[in-house]
Amino acid sequence: MLFRQLMDEASHTFTYLLADPVTKKAALIDPVDRMIDRDLLLIEELGLTLHYVLETHVHADHVTAAGELRRRTGATTVAGVAAGVGCADLLLNDGEHVRLGDYRLEVRATPGHTQGCVSYIVHTAARTLAFTGDALLIRGCGRTDFQGGDAAMLYRSVREKLFSMPAETVIYPGHDYRGRTSSTVGEERAHNPRLREGISVDEFVTIMSELKLASPAMMDIAVPANMACGARSATVDVQALQASPEKLASYRIIDVRELFEFDGPLGHLPGAELVPLATLGEAADSWRRSQAILLICKSGRRAETARVNLVARGFSDVTVLAGGMTAWRSAEPDVAACG
Ligand SMILES: [Fe+2]
Repeated sequence: MLFRQLMDEASHTFTYLLADPVTKKAALIDPVDRMIDRDLLLIEELGLTLHYVLETHVHADHVTAAGELRRRTGATTVAGVAAGVGCADLLLNDGEHVRLGDYRLEVRATPGHTQGCVSYIVHTAARTLAFTGDALLIRGCGRTDFQGGDAAMLYRSVREKLFSMPAETVIYPGHDYRGRTSSTVGEERAHNPRLREGISVDEFVTIMSELKLASPAMMDIAVPANMACGARSATVDVQALQASPEKLASYRIIDVRELFEFDGPLGHLPGAELVPLATLGEAADSWRRSQAILLICKSGRRAETARVNLVARGFSDVTVLAGGMTAWRSAEPDVAACG
């Protein structure tokens, strides 16, 4: 099997390129958006065709290149079914696999760092490779304090799904922060300070609860973007729209608040359609995917949720009014004062 281990130095994220040397079919595991040109150039130089983009989980520290790689190459995007990434082409269950020529990439559910984490297991002639994401790192593991994380669940995942493999199985993690590149099941069983043999589930839960880590700097951007296969938030300022009626008129304006808010003190924009957030999915089924949509709510928060939802449904031009109707009203010229 052709194999390359690539690093995004800003987030210490490993991306893995795997390919069948005969058919030239390739897969990328956990590609990073800012490294997309590097990865596509390598694929081209090696004469490969990208067939799959596989995510180990919804990352909180970088934005995936999955959606953009799909757009540029036609590759199929893959995630574990519990990750809840509605925009992925294939959501696989534990034990299912995708094929790269003679090779099978088997999905193994390894939740605990997040509720939707999976590992990918590949058997080659020489050895078995395990791409563990953040479930198992070299001498460590991913944190368990957000995104449905659960320390006891992670302990079981590592012990039952990863440490149960032969000792010589090679571990390729999602990150490393100390310059290391790989490990083995045997090494981690013996030396992982959190998960090695002899540490009980209760001890592991205590270790994880005492970490007291700060939130990842990119979390507020990365998690919603990754739920939408990498589409970042797009917003427009109220001042820009108030200064340009033509720009405002270019949008289909969707207000995702409730009726009492739409007709309430903040009012709504002329031409806005009321589509409460809970009804958006059903309503959007009949909309043209390429039209420019402006999403509005009270503060911008529900509109951002709506944006992720629409991008996941294939809408390509979705913008949120920053600050919502609250910002719109406070930025309006004071008519009484002018008069
Ligand atoms: Fe992670």
